[in-house]
Amino acid sequence: MKPFPDLQIPLIPSAAELPPEVSNFPRFRFMGSKFRLLPWIHDTLVGIDFETATDAFSGSGVVSYLLKSMNKEVKANDALVFPSILTIATIANSGTRLEGIDLDLLLESKARLDSERFIRRTFEGIFYTPAELSSLDDLWSGIRRLESPLKRAVALAALLRSAIKRQPRGLFTVSDPTRYQDGRRDLQLTIREHFVEQVDAYNGAVFSNGRRNFVSCGDVFDVQPGSDLVYMDPPYVPLSDDNCYIKRYHFLEGLACYWEGKELMMGTKVRKIAKPFTPFAYRRTAIEAFDKLFRKFADSIQVLSYSSNAYPDLVTLRALMGRYKKTVEVFEKEHRYHFGTHDAAKRNVVQEYLIIGS
Ligand SMILES: C[S@@+](CC[C@H](N)C(=O)[O-])C[C@H]1O[C@@H](n2cnc3c(N)ncnc32)[C@H](O)[C@@H]1O
Repeated sequence: MKPFPDLQIPLIPSAAELPPEVSNFPRFRFMGSKFRLLPWIHDTLVGIDFETATDAFSGSGVVSYLLKSMNKEVKANDALVFPSILTIATIANSGTRLEGIDLDLLLESKARLDSERFIRRTFEGIFYTPAELSSLDDLWSGIRRLESPLKRAVALAALLRSAIKRQPRGLFTVSDPTRYQDGRRDLQLTIREHFVEQVDAYNGAVFSNGRRNFVSCGDVFDVQPGSDLVYMDPPYVPLSDDNCYIKRYHFLEGLACYWEGKELMMGTKVRKIAKPFTPFAYRRTAIEAFDKLFRKFADSIQVLSYSSNAYPDLVTLRALMGRYKKTVEVFEKEHRYHFGTHDAAKRNVVQEYLIIGS
């Protein structure tokens, strides 16, 4: 007999109510990723009536993937190339996977031309061993041979995730490939071994939600408005230079396009690329940028992710959104970000907000 036959307490916590597809998302270690906040974001979005959604600052792509799993028509945008590759592979792509024959081609390819050996030449002694750098060039030479753009995106997403998993802290700030080796499985596998696993992971993330979903790579102010709902998770004004996305991920950004069109700074220890300007990252431009953002999407339901340690503060943002939306509601949740050293992580307990204008 059941101990409490009359009780109707739901035994499943809200996290289990996430659409089942979400569990297939290959988690990407990305600063400010909302991966761990997904159940809360889902709980909040589920109460809103909308069919089409724009994720204007898509980053790792996890919120776009949630929206796709909720059967919305999704437009994902980010100013950087590598987040756009991740969303082409998982959001725009509704049925293309890498077959065994594609994987064979990728693993057999060898970079023969000088122009295909850019990585081993440029990053000698930086981030990876010479063999690993050569693997990246070789796999890239195979990716060029794939005819389908969606297959290329799946392969590139797998390569990006392999590259970040093979970096001890998931960052590209320290050059020495032998530092921080602690016997973790991710650090023991070769790039090629990772790649085989990651192709599987990205193949497993492909699904159709019966909609046409889009990806764009560009400034948020060039995004076409018009979705029922726009989710906005811009970068925060950094407390230190350490918050910069390009400083942390320049190698992935270059790898996503084989450094084509990127300005490489050869004078820097880790061969950085130039930082693109974003008005959200500076105190002097952030308020005006938020005002412009809310004005741009004035006809959509607006959902802004924000946190208590950011600038401008909640009161200011609420007032700014209130200029364009009749009702502004704030949902709150305590959250601990896991970036930085142990001590810094302790300090990273913040209030997360979802500011919703309708
Ligand atoms: C906080 S992250 C987004 C995280 C994402 N929601 C997730 O869960 O992974 C901010 C993103 O905004 C992008 N970004 C910065 N300035 C931008 C701009 N002006 N237009 C479009 N994207 C921008 C960055 O490249 C970064 O990927």
